[in-house]
Amino acid sequence: MLSAQDNELFTRVGPGTPGGELMRRYWQPVTGSAAVGPEGVKSVRLLGEDLVLFRNAQGQLGLVEPWCAHRRVHLKTGYIVPEGLRCPYHGWTYGTQGQCVMQPGEPAGSRLKEHVSLKSYPVEEAGGLVFAYMGPLPAPLLPRWDFLVDQPLIRQIGFVIAPYNWAQGMENSYDAVHAEWLHGHFFKHALDQRGDPQDPRYEINALPMMRKHSEFRYDRTDYGFIRRVVLEGDTEQADTFSVGHAKIFPNITTINAGGTCTSTFQVPVDDTHTLYIGHRAYRFPEWVSVPEQIEVPWFPIPVKDEQGRWIDDDIVGQDLMVMISQGPIMDRTREVLGATDAGIVKFRRFFKDQAGVVAEGRDPINVYRDPQTNQRLELPHSKNFYDRGVYGDDRAAHYRRGSATGALGLQNSPINDLIEDLYEEAALKAPRAA
Ligand code: FES
Ligand SMILES: [Fe+2]
Repeated sequence: MLSAQDNELFTRVGPGTPGGELMRRYWQPVTGSAAVGPEGVKSVRLLGEDLVLFRNAQGQLGLVEPWCAHRRVHLKTGYIVPEGLRCPYHGWTYGTQGQCVMQPGEPAGSRLKEHVSLKSYPVEEAGGLVFAYMGPLPAPLLPRWDFLVDQPLIRQIGFVIAPYNWAQGMENSYDAVHAEWLHGHFFKHALDQRGDPQDPRYEINALPMMRKHSEFRYDRTDYGFIRRVVLEGDTEQADTFSVGHAKIFPNITTINAGGTCTSTFQVPVDDTHTLYIGHRAYRFPEWVSVPEQIEVPWFPIPVKDEQGRWIDDDIVGQDLMVMISQGPIMDRTREVLGATDAGIVKFRRFFKDQAGVVAEGRDPINVYRDPQTNQRLELPHSKNFYDRGVYGDDRAAHYRRGSATGALGLQNSPINDLIEDLYEEAALKAPRAA
């Protein structure tokens, strides 16, 4: 349980709030690179602020306040000209830093434009995502996490903007035991309701997840926490415990197993909406011929079907269902925490602690300013994950098609077949033990 005051601190993201100021110390993804293609213009919302993102004719990105400085027309109606983003109304044109570079209606020699600029924020791209920094300057470096920068990897990104506060998403990820129940027992129930005993998702997804989580622990690291789990029948030598999975403070969860790195970003759009990003980077063994990827796909994750029912036979759909069902901002003064909620408690305390660090004028953890320490930030990689029969060198020969892309919120992905082909190739060509 939290006090009403702590619930506010934990959930409010607007400028000037302690939690919002902490979140502004980190680069946050605003959209996919593919969503703002050549000469693209797009409205986005991040940390309670409406913004316009555009890509100029040279391919550079700008992220600016949305209203034209002249007569306040919304610049999502603008278009790209060689000089930058042009307002449709009278042609005032802005560069990527928000500076006004043209005012075609003003007399020759006018210096008015020199006094006009829009508020703008730094933007950078990595791993198929566009990141923005909305905190105090100078901006820190965009952290070079391995899954963002390594090559040659195949990547794809699903996203949805959903009506829940970002902290509900992170608490879900500091709650290891929900996997056993939501993605195990409940998944089985959802499949039972559908009535097909041959559904491969029983074997691939639901049954392995149902194993009892007999031990779990969250250890502090430089970048946040490592989540460690022992499943019943395993020992602490198993990958899920000895290697574990990284939680990158404040709002990224990674599951990095068997060559697939799933990184889930819970990005605060505002207090009551979250941009859920499921970023997947596939790392294949050297005997697989991985094609060069020109553009990282960016596609919507479905939350409900055509009849308005939750997509509850999918792991990402299940997570979204529970997070949305908790309401726009969960009332933590009325919850009853149990023993399995230790990770949630740890995360909340740490968030409050780091908000205090920012209030004292210092950098919180995970802020990189020295290029030497930001070359490539390696996260833990494990071979196996929940016995999915999919991943891990020792299991490569037993690959079952559909295991890598099924039930993971990838219904709209354009490259599922490619990923499955590459996993099959990995399995077929895997060196066999003599
Ligand atoms: S309102 Fe934008 S140019 Fe006039
Ligand atoms: Fe989950």
